[in-house]
Amino acid sequence: MLVLAIETSCDETSAAVLRAADGASSPEILSNIVLSQDEIHAPYGGVVPELASRQHIRSIDAVVAESLERGATPLGDIDLYAVTQGPGLIGSLLVGLSFAKGLAYYSGKPLIGVDHLAAHLEAAFLEHQGIPFPALALLVSGGHTSLFLLEAPLSRRLLGRTRDDAAGEALDKVAKFLGLGYPGGPVIERLGRGGDPKAFPFAVPRTKDRSLDFSFSGLKTAALRLIRDHGVTRDGPALPDFLASFEEIVARSLLDNLRQGVDECRARSLILCGGVARNARLRKMFAEYAAEEGLPAFVPSPRLCTDNAAMVAAAALRIFAGRPEIALDLALDAYPR
Ligand code: KG4
Ligand code: ZN
Repeated sequence: MLVLAIETSCDETSAAVLRAADGASSPEILSNIVLSQDEIHAPYGGVVPELASRQHIRSIDAVVAESLERGATPLGDIDLYAVTQGPGLIGSLLVGLSFAKGLAYYSGKPLIGVDHLAAHLEAAFLEHQGIPFPALALLVSGGHTSLFLLEAPLSRRLLGRTRDDAAGEALDKVAKFLGLGYPGGPVIERLGRGGDPKAFPFAVPRTKDRSLDFSFSGLKTAALRLIRDHGVTRDGPALPDFLASFEEIVARSLLDNLRQGVDECRARSLILCGGVARNARLRKMFAEYAAEEGLPAFVPSPRLCTDNAAMVAAAALRIFAGRPEIALDLALDAYPR
């Protein structure tokens, strides 16, 4: 079974070809092309939706062609098409969805619409077999920060989510404020390397009702205040310490909720996924915490954490394995949230 997936929910144009021997079990990634739009959005310090969708239109054709070529798969051999349906930027989603519909219609093959969060979670299963259930999953990206309890793959229960900014969004905004460019997460990680993570006095934010929800807007405001009070600048000597401290507090705040989640439910394993899961400090703290609890922990490799079509293909294979009757539905629509 060969699947071609397209992902255009935000600012990466991505296409992937995966092969699965039987159903959804251990598919092989034949290609996973990700074309970033970072350079286009960097001057604005964040994604400009209109520019994103226009760029997807320009790139999609070449990215899909490249995924077929690198995967050494002619279009006629594809058995199944998959596409991110939402949530995401509506204009961006529609580019991928329309393109995928066109391919499926032309080939007379089924098309599966995939939820973006389901795809991020599926990234963990793509590389790891036999994850014990229930699994407590922390999904951290630029648009989402959520804690899910998974009873099985594709079966998630929301335990908590951010009430304001996503963790990645907070990193992006602080980087923007300091004039460090976009996306903020990787820049903060790079420039904060070697800095003292205890140098700046951040306090871990807590929601008043002790729920499993997250909140990052207070942390972002505290960061902006510290930047002003301590005269932190892009070229100043305090930058590495400040960035390391901010990264550390974001990671600690994420892990605090995870810890509370573990206390409240009987999870048998832990998953970390989403773009921010690329972060080395967060990965390390997550692994240390899991070891402390004696729980097996699963994190996708970095390239499968940020938006990519391989995770969409993997989720589609799993959906298709459970519902092989799914056909192309030309009325399939994108959803922004
Ligand atoms: O999952 P993703 O690619 O897109 C969304 O679904 O939002 O995540 C993008 C987010 C951005 O906020 C970016 O700053 C963050 O992931 N990110 C990182 C790193 N790489 C990407 N954050 C921290 N450290 C990184 N190395
Ligand atoms: Zn994403």
